Amino acid sequence: MTLMTSIDPGPSGDLRIAPSVLAADFGALAEAVRGVTAVSDWLHVDVMDGHFVPNISIGPPVVSSLRRHTDLYLDCHLMITDPGEYLEAFAKAGADGVTVHAEVDGIDVVLAEARALGLRVGLAVNPDTPFEAIDPYLEVVDLVLCMTVFPGFGGQSFMPEVLPKIRAVRQAIIERDLAIDIEVDGGIDVVTTPLVTEAGANVLVAGSAIFGATDPAGAAELIRRAAISVTDG
Ligand code: DX5
Ligand code: ZN
Repeated sequence: MTLMTSIDPGPSGDLRIAPSVLAADFGALAEAVRGVTAVSDWLHVDVMDGHFVPNISIGPPVVSSLRRHTDLYLDCHLMITDPGEYLEAFAKAGADGVTVHAEVDGIDVVLAEARALGLRVGLAVNPDTPFEAIDPYLEVVDLVLCMTVFPGFGGQSFMPEVLPKIRAVRQAIIERDLAIDIEVDGGIDVVTTPLVTEAGANVLVAGSAIFGATDPAGAAELIRRAAISVTDG
């Protein structure tokens, strides 16, 4: 099966703000999403299985609900041990992109299957997984997600030791003339945004810095400005 419709992700390499709904009120999700839609490019959806990470969040039924309430690109971050089992369910639910972790088994097959389903594909790496684990996949993915915290929970502190890996990915993308995105996720706010954009990241996921703010849309705009002020030199 392939998707009947999918949302245009926008040109690779462009700055994108992707609020993570993990930090939103799950009891009023549609309203939370509506509140940030005008200032967001993507919506980041954190899927956790209680096995790959020590937390359980949401799955395809919630993606399906979100799909009915938003036209934002749904960027699904699969923190699950067996992503291959669920790709079709996410595609049917209306996911636009799925990002799977390099730390799980059978990544080659999973990436190919996701592509065959019409999904945009991403590869995520934990903070301690080296660039070498990403390198062989750069030609077959649309996005590399460099985790800037260990996955599993929102509200953790940004890990600056990941910055050299972001730089290495950006360097490889330039050298190999690839059109892919570099996403960062974990502890992204107005203070850390200039650091990651300077290193080469262009998709900024933020949970608590946006949905934890009294004015989530205003907070998203401030993150966008913090990034633009760096890229504009
Ligand atoms: C963590 C998730 C993140 C999380 C980020 O495992 O992948 O997307 O929502 O939350 P903050 O922005 O609060 O660090
Ligand atoms: Zn995430």
